[in-house]
Amino acid sequence: MAVLVTGGAGYIGSAFVEQLLAAGEEVAVLDDLSRGHRAAVHPDARFYEGRTGDRDLVRRIAAEHRLDACAHFAAFAYVGESVTEPARYFDNNFAQAQVLFESLLAAGVRHVVFSSTCATYGVPTRVPIPETHPQWPINPYGWSKLFVERLLESFDRAYGLRFVSLRYFNAAGATARCGEAHTPETHLIPLVLAAAAGRREKVSVFGDDYPTEDGTAVRDYIHIEDLGEAHLLALAHLRRGGESQFLNLGNGTGYSVLEVIETARRVTCRDVPFEKVARREGDPPRLVGDATRAREVLGWTPRRPSLEAIVRSAWEWMQAHPDGYGSGA
Ligand SMILES: NC(=O)c1ccc[n+]([C@@H]2O[C@H](COP(=O)([O-])OP(=O)(O)OC[C@H]3O[C@@H](n4cnc5c(N)ncnc54)[C@H](O)[C@@H]3O)[C@@H](O)[C@H]2O)c1
Repeated sequence: MAVLVTGGAGYIGSAFVEQLLAAGEEVAVLDDLSRGHRAAVHPDARFYEGRTGDRDLVRRIAAEHRLDACAHFAAFAYVGESVTEPARYFDNNFAQAQVLFESLLAAGVRHVVFSSTCATYGVPTRVPIPETHPQWPINPYGWSKLFVERLLESFDRAYGLRFVSLRYFNAAGATARCGEAHTPETHLIPLVLAAAAGRREKVSVFGDDYPTEDGTAVRDYIHIEDLGEAHLLALAHLRRGGESQFLNLGNGTGYSVLEVIETARRVTCRDVPFEKVARREGDPPRLVGDATRAREVLGWTPRRPSLEAIVRSAWEWMQAHPDGYGSGA
């Protein structure tokens, strides 16, 4: 059987493709390259350039491979952009996903692993956040992902589409082959490392008066290989007839922005210039996930929980790929 990976030219999807291939799976990648990199797609995966909402293309992919599952990573994922361009987000992340799931069902594919997000919770009232925490997003990106969760639930009940919706906290780190090269980059670790490398002047620290140990915002960083392993387990769960699930994926440990900067200084042995600026609207003080359920249901244990190991892997990738996917990939 083969697995369709949408968004397999992107940061997390490209690393998962590597893991699928290493597990002996046949892989088809569907990506429109709107945000991804052709060079990130593993040469042993069959690449299809196009959109998730292209029914004919998904039909063709299903006809050319014996698909039994889809890992759906493809989406737009900039919170700020979703606020100024909500129509694009609801179209790309929700409407296109609906067409994708309909096309999969038409081709007899009934297993979906979906990239959801902690942004579906909005501002948490309890931390660590369990899956039962109320979901009330504070931006269109979070809503677009939450709508897909509701869509999956409805398609499960009505059409038997089984799914595992994985709510990631902050994806981070790199494999030897795949790393983070978003344009623009908004994630803290690559920004901090770019400052360490002298490729950006400094890092902005948004807010130093939060009710946290050092006043800066705390986030839960999870290595992309640990995310990938959870996807492999989710796939196995679906293939053995497991029920649909919503599961958090995080380490359950939070690190502040200043701790990330300090760790990057240690790992790179370089200075990381930063400036403290005002808080950003809608940034909660602390976002940490309770992933007990993923451990129980999937038997998942993150194997690379240390922030230092996460930052080191990202730094090594950046050193080997100074121009991102523009070189050496
Ligand atoms: N990076 C994180 O920390 C994080 C956290 C929570 C959830 N997520 C989710 O994980 C997924 C992957 O995130 P990422 O950081 O790898 O993003 P990314 O932008 O690197 O990858 C997304 C890929 O999807 C492709 N794409 C987008 N819309 C498409 C469409 N309609 N059809 C075909 N291809 C399309 C892009 O070209 C890109 O290659 C996203 O769904 C994101 O919302 C990411």
